[in-house]
Amino acid sequence: MQSILMQDFEELLHSELDLEPFRGKIFFVTGATGLVGSLVLRFLAYANEQLDLDLKLLALVRNKEKAQRLYAKYKTAPLKFVVTELGHSDLHLSEKVDYVIHAAAVTGSKQMIADPVGTIRTALWGTDEVLQEAVRNNAEAMVYLSSMEVYGQPVVTGQTTEKDLGYVDLTNIRSSYPEGKRMSELMCNSYAEQYGLRVMSARLAQVFGAGVLPGENRVFAQFARSAMNGENIVLHTTGQSEGNYVYATDAIKAILILLQKGETRQAYNVANEDSHMTIKAMAEMVMDNFGISGAQVVIDIPKENMGYAPDVKMWLSSQKLQQLGWRPTVNLKDSYARLIQWLQEKK
Ligand SMILES: NC(=O)c1ccc[n+]([C@@H]2O[C@H](COP(=O)([O-])OP(=O)(O)OC[C@H]3O[C@@H](n4cnc5c(N)ncnc54)[C@H](O)[C@@H]3O)[C@@H](O)[C@H]2O)c1
Repeated sequence: MQSILMQDFEELLHSELDLEPFRGKIFFVTGATGLVGSLVLRFLAYANEQLDLDLKLLALVRNKEKAQRLYAKYKTAPLKFVVTELGHSDLHLSEKVDYVIHAAAVTGSKQMIADPVGTIRTALWGTDEVLQEAVRNNAEAMVYLSSMEVYGQPVVTGQTTEKDLGYVDLTNIRSSYPEGKRMSELMCNSYAEQYGLRVMSARLAQVFGAGVLPGENRVFAQFARSAMNGENIVLHTTGQSEGNYVYATDAIKAILILLQKGETRQAYNVANEDSHMTIKAMAEMVMDNFGISGAQVVIDIPKENMGYAPDVKMWLSSQKLQQLGWRPTVNLKDSYARLIQWLQEKK
């Protein structure tokens, strides 16, 4: 039977995404050993093989051995690794690039509070390096992967649109992440204005699905594994924060559509509006649908600071992205079904 990830890729190939404009183009993707960057590259490698698109893929990685293991199945893909650590002005591409997807960032909550300076440097200096390369190459377009966390605490009734930025507490070092994203978006917009680069920001909701990497330990993976193993789902907060989610291949579709149709200097929420619920409600949904009877959702708040983002009441609107023709296809329950199928395949 075909793997769930290949089924997802096949669906994406036959979606509203038109891959023909990418024929013969060179992509440069940072964060290529991370969840989103690797999904973009794995999908482009798959699409290249299926549609004979004559793509070239440049993947920025810090650890070549890790990258070789991750892409072992894609040996025939036109994929090259650019090995460097962003933030040290070492990035010099020897090939011309047409499209840039900047996915590298510090994303772990614990690392954000253990190394807030490094989190900010990677965001600002890293994004600056990538933008310089995009300008030097006269790239056709770049998408910067931002986050719904830029909203901080929005003060809106109803859905949060791209204009509804809220409060971010600058005395909280965990804000190194959202404030780094805000400044990086502004840096992108400044390059657009000053150097004529076409660059858009994709404000991603939580992305997950088939294709998550070994060792993935974000909340969605913990919930899925607990349900699969017949264990309780343990919440480390009261679970009142409202989450916004988007299925992995729906997010990849959004990023590629933005490269083609996004308006420069604009930010776009990437969220499935139907995939919105509190963390606690999501845990209960996972337990009801995928857990064994007798297991339950329990709350156990650790004493140590886990670096979690502050609780937020937010329901993201994706109308702006939908106006470009993007449609999400996988709801939250099916996202878990596909994630669990993937984790079972990998057992
Ligand atoms: N996955 C999500 O749900 C989500 C949600 C909102 C925003 N985002 C954003 O999307 C992007 C990708 O997220 P992800 O989930 O794939 O993250 P990830 O943690 O899985 O991957 C991040 C990648 O960046 C690389 N990286 C970190 N620092 C680097 C540096 N200094 N130089 C070079 N590479 C470096 C890491 O090695 C890793 O490969 C990030 O910018 C993240 O903030 C992701």
